[in-house]
Amino acid sequence: MKKVLYIDCCIRRENSRTKKLADRFLHNLEQKGDYEITHLCLMDENLGCLTEGFFQQRQELLEKNELDHPRFRYAWQFQQADRIVIAAPFWDLAFPALLKVYLENVSVDGITFGCAESGLYGTCKSEKMVFLTTRGGNYKNSPLEMGSRYLEALCEFFGIDEYIEIAADGLDEGKECPEEILQRSMDAIDVVTENF
Ligand SMILES: Cc1cc2nc3c(=O)[nH]c(=O)nc-3n(C[C@H](O)[C@H](O)[C@H](O)COP(=O)(O)O)c2cc1C
Repeated sequence: MKKVLYIDCCIRRENSRTKKLADRFLHNLEQKGDYEITHLCLMDENLGCLTEGFFQQRQELLEKNELDHPRFRYAWQFQQADRIVIAAPFWDLAFPALLKVYLENVSVDGITFGCAESGLYGTCKSEKMVFLTTRGGNYKNSPLEMGSRYLEALCEFFGIDEYIEIAADGLDEGKECPEEILQRSMDAIDVVTENF
């Protein structure tokens, strides 16, 4: 059984088109039956930004190497997963700040990455990370797109070999029927989940 961590940042929940992609992805995995899926809904978590006392506590725990503190549970969960699936819409050229706050909690020296004389190295178990997103405009290969490119870089940082983006672009442009755009992403999902 592969342990899949599904990180749900589909803020509009049932109205979210990104969630439709995630539902298809997870449905396909469930059909295959060889996956243990954990659904982490970021909207239901009480995630804190690194400010004031919350930041200070982290520094003190890291200095004492107390990595078993409950506040590091997100980092351990991420580090232990065999596969990572992230779903989030395209907001303000990237993704919602809620996902960044989560990633800030996940990025912990000694858990998801390590530090050697030669530099930083990733320590996550997962071999693959998938990012599912939908965008109002078309940002394919655009330097203005900062969400997916950031996550791809983060994969390398965390030591995750393969990054896969499945994006439905141009949903709000009115140039093409949104259902047709979404269908193409569903087809891409069917291919990726064949061998995930
Ligand atoms: C707060 C907010 C910010 C957005 N920013 C952008 C943007 O910068 N560029 C863009 O093309 N679309 C933008 N959109 C449109 C969304 O990317 C698009 O509607 C997407 O499909 C929404 O995903 P959802 O249905 O999963 O919520 C934004 C939408 C919202 C609500």
